[in-house]
Amino acid sequence: MRVDRFLSNLPRFNRKQVRMLLVERRVRVDGQAVSDPHFEVREFSRVECDDEVLQEGRPARYFMLHKPMGCVSATVDPQHPTVLDLIDEPDKHDLHIAGRLDFNTSGLMLITNDGQWSRRLTQPQTKLPKIYYVETEQDIEPEYVEKFSEGFYFAFEDLTTLPAELTLLSSRSARLSIVEGRYHQVKRMFGFFNNKVLRLHRESMGPLRLDHDLAPGHYRPLSPDEILQI
Ligand code: URA
Repeated sequence: MRVDRFLSNLPRFNRKQVRMLLVERRVRVDGQAVSDPHFEVREFSRVECDDEVLQEGRPARYFMLHKPMGCVSATVDPQHPTVLDLIDEPDKHDLHIAGRLDFNTSGLMLITNDGQWSRRLTQPQTKLPKIYYVETEQDIEPEYVEKFSEGFYFAFEDLTTLPAELTLLSSRSARLSIVEGRYHQVKRMFGFFNNKVLRLHRESMGPLRLDHDLAPGHYRPLSPDEILQI
């Protein structure tokens, strides 16, 4: 939210007072004096006016988790373990998942409390490639490749999937790059050929790759550089 709107939303300041506070450089966001009314205030920002704290701010948090199979991509589930059960962090119920995976899909999962960041990662408009390793019940025929790049019509959503890149690795395994994250997307794509997906593993989301040495069920915080790449 713009800093002028943030200040005007507080009952104590009217618009004229907000303009004056900014002109007089009495407002600080994360310790920095701000005069531009467009300056972005986030839920994580600490906002002060003179010596008074208007918003405490809180740390933005980002984690990479190796989701194991047999675990639900939800924060709570009455029956099964959830990915949040694997995380041992204070205030973990503040966290959400950026791009869910099915119960039996394994691989890279990004978890954060920053909604803007996770939207950038998952919105189809951003066109960030998500790369999956896939194993199937039947042979993957070479003609699949063209169909994946043309797109599949999904009647439920009334849309055609964006071009996807399928690379055959063996007769029944492939690497697939898609830029969307529709419900059960990969399984539905192979379902078009009546070919059941037996194993699905997400290797990367945009520039972020699952660490080779991060065991299933384990996680680590992202580095500042990784956070900025999204
Ligand atoms: N597509 C699927 O079908 N399942 C997943 O878990 C991810 C992508």
